[in-house]
Amino acid sequence: MRDVAIVGVGLTKFGERWSSGLKELMAEAGIMALEDAKITSNDVEMLYGGTMAPGRFTGQEHVAALMADQLGFKNIPAVRIENACASGGSALRQGYIAVASGIHDVVVVGGVEKMTDVTSSEASTALGGAGDQEWELFQGITFPGLYALIANRHMHDYGTTEEMLASVAVKNHDNAVKNQFAQFRKKITIDEVLNSKIVSDPLKLLDCSPISDGAAAVVLVPLEKARKFNDTPIKIVASAQATDTLRLAERDSITELKATKIAAAKAYEQAKVQPKDINVVEVHDCFTIAEILAMEDLGFYQKGKAGKAILDGETALNSKLSVNTSGGLKGCGHPVGATGVKQAVEIVWQLRGDAKDRQVNGANVGMTHNVGGSGSTAVVHIYKRAD
Ligand code: COA
Repeated sequence: MRDVAIVGVGLTKFGERWSSGLKELMAEAGIMALEDAKITSNDVEMLYGGTMAPGRFTGQEHVAALMADQLGFKNIPAVRIENACASGGSALRQGYIAVASGIHDVVVVGGVEKMTDVTSSEASTALGGAGDQEWELFQGITFPGLYALIANRHMHDYGTTEEMLASVAVKNHDNAVKNQFAQFRKKITIDEVLNSKIVSDPLKLLDCSPISDGAAAVVLVPLEKARKFNDTPIKIVASAQATDTLRLAERDSITELKATKIAAAKAYEQAKVQPKDINVVEVHDCFTIAEILAMEDLGFYQKGKAGKAILDGETALNSKLSVNTSGGLKGCGHPVGATGVKQAVEIVWQLRGDAKDRQVNGANVGMTHNVGGSGSTAVVHIYKRAD
């Protein structure tokens, strides 16, 4: 196995991108990543494209070949990776494996979703495909509904409050204000979250990630060749993934995501680091309760303790642990297939020292955590500046 480094990153602004289709979004992020790695399309040997439901959102399938075509990658192999909202993180892991194995030297991993061309209710139905159709979606529950069940149980078992949930959204909007690529560059208050309309009790509008368009891309190469491309390569020191049941009803507990715990344990072992060594982390806050679960399941807090810590400001920018400096899914937006790749882009900027107003001081070790469905897939990566 070879060590793998990220030498190029690209991102589009997330949000309602009315004037850009899938092709334009992919091209915008892809070209930025190629330029960052100082390579041309002729240098790329393999493409993995993460996307969840382009057929339902836009009618377009066969997106990996389209991405390769759009970026001028002539006749190379290209594969679409679909793992619900963890499609981007899963694509990154496939790219990592392709380079680590020695099969390819220059691999581009892209992530894209164009979700705003359909109505919110059509988007909700498409997103529902990430759950168990027969047991959950056909019975009328949506993703906000599934996470509301989790939130209610967490509140019941651990005394987590609606203010604690709201504080996740407030923090992530604070960070998004500092991110030019974010969908919501607007501060919000706990009262505004609590008074926003109920989506699925106890989750309100401002507890939810939005429907978004956007794309992200990274360039992966073997670490030993990385400095030919970029002076500050970022090494991927762990890549781990796990699954769990699709239906919540079959889990031992719904106040933890077992897939996150398993993937995190493997990642810490591979990277030979502990939670206390991580300086900056992008976690999957599709709903505010999801960030609380992530903080606990990734080992940063004991079960039931993360909500208060977030409310107390322990995970704000440049506090004890900087969490979701991009604004997370809540503030930066959540074009589902792009999110996992965007998380990696943010960590690369942080570890390079290129995160501008939202730079974490002394960021040396970073982590990304990308979840599919209600926790049926979890992907965890750990990154370090290459020595
Ligand atoms: N956070 C903040 N503002 C939001 C928002 C969000 N999540 N979603 C919508 N808005 C804003 C819009 O910008 C719009 O503002 P404007 O009136 O100033 O233009 C307003 O709220 C109404 O937007 P609209 O698109 O009509 O909202 P909606 O009620 O149709 O959809 C949700 C809101 C929460 C239902 C939708 O965003 C949603 O389904 N989110 C969850 C997505 C999801 O499940 N992802 C997968 C996770 S596993």
